[in-house]
Amino acid sequence: MSPLSVDRAPSRDRSAYLAMIPQLEQQGFLRLPANPVLRQAVDCAFAQASGFFARPAEEKLRYSHPEWVEGYRELGPEYSQVPERPDLTESFSAWNHNRVHPELDAWRDGCLLHGALRDAADLLADVVRDLFAAMRDYFAPGAPDLRFFGATYTQLNHYEPARHRRKLLQDPHEDGHLVTLVTSNAPGLELQVGGAFVPANVSPDHFVVMPGSLLSLMTGYRVKPGYHQVRNSRRTDPRLSMMFFVNPEIDQQLAPWIENDSNKGIDIIARANAAPKQFGYPSLKDILSGHADTPLESPYLANAAQ
Ligand SMILES: [Fe+2]
Repeated sequence: MSPLSVDRAPSRDRSAYLAMIPQLEQQGFLRLPANPVLRQAVDCAFAQASGFFARPAEEKLRYSHPEWVEGYRELGPEYSQVPERPDLTESFSAWNHNRVHPELDAWRDGCLLHGALRDAADLLADVVRDLFAAMRDYFAPGAPDLRFFGATYTQLNHYEPARHRRKLLQDPHEDGHLVTLVTSNAPGLELQVGGAFVPANVSPDHFVVMPGSLLSLMTGYRVKPGYHQVRNSRRTDPRLSMMFFVNPEIDQQLAPWIENDSNKGIDIIARANAAPKQFGYPSLKDILSGHADTPLESPYLANAAQ
């Protein structure tokens, strides 16, 4: 079986997910409790991340494969609004698609964080499969399954709030994915609710589901994009967050579940392909084909070097 064709037993109880969709539509986000297995995977990823990010820079950079956007990235290339204000975090990504590269097996012993993120991704994919099936049944019964696994990735962010003077470690933005599932070990994430930013109060026992711009296109904007930001707590302890960024696989026909004036004629796959460029990355197609060879530019680091 190819590492990408993950075919798992269907859901435990999809009706529970179906009951949450009106809440997602009205409230703009959802909280999904982590079952004990997922909770253990989150704890393991955070424990491995604490050790990994504490290593010297040259050691961390050994686990970085920029052409595949896999592994470690220094603070700098990724931003939320403008390149001059990067997200003030180091990060580590594990793309499901990159499981096809046996070269990455060499990371197994030296970087347990990588394997921990892959394990978490498998569990989170089960959750998202149920969530999307529920959304489909709610908005467009009978529509085909939305395939996402091969274009989706897991990311661990490591913030050191007290080192930065900015009030916001990440500027307000909506994600360019279908949904983001996020958890964290410390305060900072804020969600826009009724026009004001409020603390997300997320902890490792659950994930917050934040709709991205592609989900709004899928639902004719019945589900609004979830604006969010990360506030600087000024704490000296590192803040860790784990995100499951869910993209549609780009080799599928993707008709919106609900079509109206807001999304008429819009090619959602084309939007998914272009979305990463908005945040300092190559296109999704280039990432998935392993040709993300445009150097990730970092005006922040260039300025800092001057
Ligand atoms: Fe975000």
